[in-house]
Amino acid sequence: MSRTAYVNGAYVRQSEAVVSIEDRGYQFADAVYEVWSVFDGRLADLEGHLNRLERSLSELKIVMPMPRNALLVVLTEVVRRNHIREGMVYLQISRGVAPRDHVFPTNVRPAMVVTARPVDRLAAANKALIGLKAKSMPDIRWGRCDIKTVGLLPNVLAKQAAKEEGAGEVIFVDKDGFVTEGGSTNVYMVGDDGVIRTRDLKANILAGVTRLTLLDMVSDTGLEIREEAFTLEAAKAASEVFITAATSLVMPIVAIDGHLIGDGKPGPVASGLRDSYIGRARRTALV
Ligand code: PDD
Repeated sequence: MSRTAYVNGAYVRQSEAVVSIEDRGYQFADAVYEVWSVFDGRLADLEGHLNRLERSLSELKIVMPMPRNALLVVLTEVVRRNHIREGMVYLQISRGVAPRDHVFPTNVRPAMVVTARPVDRLAAANKALIGLKAKSMPDIRWGRCDIKTVGLLPNVLAKQAAKEEGAGEVIFVDKDGFVTEGGSTNVYMVGDDGVIRTRDLKANILAGVTRLTLLDMVSDTGLEIREEAFTLEAAKAASEVFITAATSLVMPIVAIDGHLIGDGKPGPVASGLRDSYIGRARRTALV
């Protein structure tokens, strides 16, 4: 079945979809993006991703190409046209198309692309039963990782290096030895005290929407979570480490740099939170 993409006002066959060679996303990574997970054909954490999208756009002084409700129609239409029940939606908005010049062009309309694809939830669940290995890497990214831009080359290189060593995610570490986040995820550790820790948003990280939901969920479970810096060494000595994102949801990390976390198997906190997150996403996904 051919896939359908939304490209600047039209629903088109994805294999034939094109954007301009002078799109500023292509030339300067002057573009932002969002990823939603789709459960039962509906978008999880809908509002959280829309809020962050608006923030990313406003930080870059790119205008929203359409009002929220119109954007919602496009997102759900792409899901519908691709017959996605379980999957993900990708949205990218660039500053627009203009002759190459670093400074912002005037009178340019933002360019918008939306795609969707299915996700094999059974395969993902089996992956979560085994957990992922991670590789630590120095965090060499720019100073505005709070903006979700498509400028992901350091993440790409780090994730490729991890893959070449048989690891499924990167753990970025700042110059003081503290974990910032993953290559495309937020990172958490569970200490001997049972407390979950994840880096605070004053650090140079992305405010994950899954992270925000998790912080909210954990308050109902009796578990304690703190937004607090922790070192790579502390993570290696933790009883559990896990990551979150709209793509991986909640995924246990069972080894870092070849060092086993706990007994090298997914722990109860990560596995329990994964089930709770998915349950909540199914109940609350919208549209
Ligand atoms: N990545 N940190 C980074 C660097 C990310 O790229 C992501 C998401 C996250 C988690 O954010 P959220 O929970 O809102 O998905 C944290 C997306 C999924 C991606 O690049 O594919």
